[in-house]
Amino acid sequence: MSTLLVSQPRYAWLRELGLQEENPGVYNGRWGGSGQVVTTYCPANNEPIASVRQASLEDYEETVKKAKEAWKVWADIPAPKRGEIVRQIGDALRQKIKVLGSLVSLEMGKIYVEGVGEVQEYVDVCDYAVGLSRMIGGPVLPSERPGHALIEQWNPVGLVGIITAFNFPVAVYGWNSAIAMICGNACLWKGAPTTSLISVAVTKIIAKVLEDNKIPGAICSLVCGGADIGTAMARDERMDLLSFTGSTKVGKQVALMVQERFGRSLLELGGNNAIIVFEDADLNLVIPSALFAAVGTAGQRCTTARRLFLHESIHDVVVEKLAKAYAQVRIGDPWDSDTLYGPLHTKEAVKMFLDAVEQAKQQGGSVVCGGKVINRPGNYVEPTIVTGLPHNAPIVHTETFAPILYVLKFKEEEEVFAWNNEVKQGLSSSIFTKDLGRIFRWLGPKGSDCGIVNVNIPTSGAEIGGAFGGEKHTGGGRESGSDSWKLYMRRSTCTINYSKDLPLAQGIKFQ
Ligand code: UN1
Repeated sequence: MSTLLVSQPRYAWLRELGLQEENPGVYNGRWGGSGQVVTTYCPANNEPIASVRQASLEDYEETVKKAKEAWKVWADIPAPKRGEIVRQIGDALRQKIKVLGSLVSLEMGKIYVEGVGEVQEYVDVCDYAVGLSRMIGGPVLPSERPGHALIEQWNPVGLVGIITAFNFPVAVYGWNSAIAMICGNACLWKGAPTTSLISVAVTKIIAKVLEDNKIPGAICSLVCGGADIGTAMARDERMDLLSFTGSTKVGKQVALMVQERFGRSLLELGGNNAIIVFEDADLNLVIPSALFAAVGTAGQRCTTARRLFLHESIHDVVVEKLAKAYAQVRIGDPWDSDTLYGPLHTKEAVKMFLDAVEQAKQQGGSVVCGGKVINRPGNYVEPTIVTGLPHNAPIVHTETFAPILYVLKFKEEEEVFAWNNEVKQGLSSSIFTKDLGRIFRWLGPKGSDCGIVNVNIPTSGAEIGGAFGGEKHTGGGRESGSDSWKLYMRRSTCTINYSKDLPLAQGIKFQ
């Protein structure tokens, strides 16, 4: 009998997503794949779920060609009609939200409600994109010349490559693809190899909508693969925009490869997010916020709070309350409705966690709670609080993708705003205060330098309606809401002379 979870009666629901023991990992209107076979494992017990046959470089080549061909059809469809297709994708996701959320929980390891929440983000961004499909466009600007019109025209860039990370294996693809699609682009997706089944399951849902509408499936192509496929995408001139979500280290390599060919990239890289708690803060908001931001998703969000700055007058009381809250976190199988905290995604992540705890101790930190591996199957570690480190200890300035919270003391607003900004990354940040002046200083030029700047809410859990992303080593990209759509389009400034004269700008006479 097979040892794969997909073949066990308890996991029969995986069949509802069309998953089998071995799944083709390439879609370009047809399913295929002739590359290496990867098996993915459940982080809660390290048992094999099923396998995916990835893309070879030949499969990649064929898929890019088909996506480019498909684009010709898609670009001619009016934007609101493209929005209608995205609306149907959102509806198809709604129908599968529970089962897809369960797969996220099984393969990524996040708790069930967060798995479902992630699919909800994709559904929400589909709705958002449908609305946008009737709104995007440029202004008509006043021309300085008589009988001339000055207009801005936005066109799709063409083919958008989307490389996503293991930690948001559904939502991040959703943010990119829903917006890219209504803008008139074809998409080519490479998810993380360790969440390949999720990539296949999501693509099956989309493929059915496209095929039912007789639209070329290659509009939403999939190439499961590793670094070889990622590198091919980064170097490929046919990739008109490459959206990359992942570590700063890999993101930098990607950015340099794309820049070398003067291509466009959209980067969502690491964060080192801080929560700052002032002496007037409402602690009833602070404790659950810090808990969600630091312990939620087992510390594996790019928006996870890693630094907690506490005003010296409330430091001890907050640490005590927070340690009590940590002790009550229900640890268990991520798909159990009672569980709040699941495993880390891989065994390597457990090693990184232990290594960071060791470094924190060596650099002068005290482990208030956690710090150890949990003795049960799967990649479980204890959610950890470390106090007593200086704000600029090397480990505090390092993003470790694990549930370790460094609690740091401060005295003054000015110093703590500076400490918020002194790290290389610039993704998310929060203050807790009731002081109106301080709130607006935080939002202003000398406040937080991050892309996400919050007040009295956690660093994580952003809504899709805002632009998502951050500055500095976070990469500068913006995805999802607001005017992020502009990054998926190219702008033309168009001047049309409808007169019989040829006046030149700036009043130049060239005769
Ligand atoms: C990520 O961790 O890559 O704001 C994205 C949040 C989520 C997205 C996180 N909406 O925490």
